[in-house]
Amino acid sequence: MNLKKPISSETIIFLTGFMGCGKTFLGKQIASKLNLSFYDLDSEIEKSTDLFIENIFQKFGEKYFRDLETEILLNWIKSGIIATGGGIVENENNCHFLKNQNTIWLNPSFDEIFKRISNSNRPLVQKLSKNELFELWQKRLPFYKECSNFDYSESSAERLIELIFH
Ligand code: S3P
Repeated sequence: MNLKKPISSETIIFLTGFMGCGKTFLGKQIASKLNLSFYDLDSEIEKSTDLFIENIFQKFGEKYFRDLETEILLNWIKSGIIATGGGIVENENNCHFLKNQNTIWLNPSFDEIFKRISNSNRPLVQKLSKNELFELWQKRLPFYKECSNFDYSESSAERLIELIFH
């Protein structure tokens, strides 16, 4: 990966990828190893609305959630490792924005992803069958690829850091 600038306390690295790809899990590890802060856009949305993501979907619908997600992303200024929601790539402006940042795509297999999310209370997992989730994953793959400058399908934070600095 070619970081836009050398790692410093100003560095911002976005993590993208489907639900369950490890953005929070790996993101927290990388942040602590690089001595950077970790943020999760979903948590930022929850804080700003004082509602859980599933309640935002229930009460106001997906479109409302997507608009909030875009607003927070496009105005992001805090440095650190930033996990984005799996659907961030549904919006073209978000993709365009991420493409011009340091953005890592975490890309394990769908089987691995499904194992991790099948019991979760994420609204889309509650709503969609395994096949539909697979189709959504496939549909989004080109967008994750397009908006990132590096992709990683393993699960070790150490290895990922090695590769970032390579
Ligand atoms: C979503 C992914 C979730 C969350 C919301 C919608 C999606 O984030 O933003 O449930 O559309 O893929 P994670 O990828 O962190 O689970």
